[in-house]
Amino acid sequence: MSTITANGELGRVTGFYSSVVGKKVVMAVTGFILFGFILVHMLANLQVFLPVTAAGVPPLDAYAEHLRALPPLLWGTRVVLLVAVILHILAAVQLWWLNKFEARKRGYVKYEPIASNYASRTMIWSGPIIFFYVIYHLLDFTFGVVNPGYVPGHVLRNVVASFQHPVVAGFYIVANICLAFHLYHGIWSMCQTVGLSHPRYTPWLKRASVVFAIVIGVGFCSVPIAVLAGLVR
Ligand code: HEM
Repeated sequence: MSTITANGELGRVTGFYSSVVGKKVVMAVTGFILFGFILVHMLANLQVFLPVTAAGVPPLDAYAEHLRALPPLLWGTRVVLLVAVILHILAAVQLWWLNKFEARKRGYVKYEPIASNYASRTMIWSGPIIFFYVIYHLLDFTFGVVNPGYVPGHVLRNVVASFQHPVVAGFYIVANICLAFHLYHGIWSMCQTVGLSHPRYTPWLKRASVVFAIVIGVGFCSVPIAVLAGLVR
């Protein structure tokens, strides 16, 4: 009996996901989770601008140490992020495929994106750039394999060692600008998917998406810029 119920539930979930709306909902929910992480991570990174503690420890290092002392939180977050990233990419690729090939096969008129602005047209390349950026970023600060000055646990030192190289700092700045464009369109699409778009609120939602994207972009870019300028050592 319970097997039949479980099969029925699974069938409903897969049936929902197989629709375009289902994939958009998955993109919106996973995008929201990833956005939450990005916002918290950006705020945490701003600790590079705080003075060292009385014990002589940079606040960023102390924060990372606190997180490492809470394995369930750290690993729980990592698992949720990994699942969210996989589902976000899978749904994005499937929606892109449906728009690009399936619509044509069915003889639809040329596909026109709903919000055909610069950010929406750039989703298709800003997404892969962010993906490769995060891979490089993990090799840089989590595994330390592309950061010759990497010392485990010395987070601020690792950040400064990486961004002292103008090419690396420049790469992070460009990638974070891509991220800001991606977030602008992503937040706006998420609002549309969950039915928040309304002629009265749409201009405000668009403005809020721009503000969030700029705050995230400026917050992340401020770190490599500050290291390059010698403000963070
Ligand atoms: C200039 C901007 C950024 C700086 C300075 C920065 C800094 C760092 C540092 C120092 C770590 C390692 C922390 C530790 O070892 O405890 C880290 C980890 C990480 N960062 Fe960033 N980050 C930046 C932007 C981003 C962006 C834009 C994303 C995502 C789109 C991101 C995703 C991650 C992830 C997934 C981890 C691994 C977290 C974990 O170990 O579980 N970071 N970042």
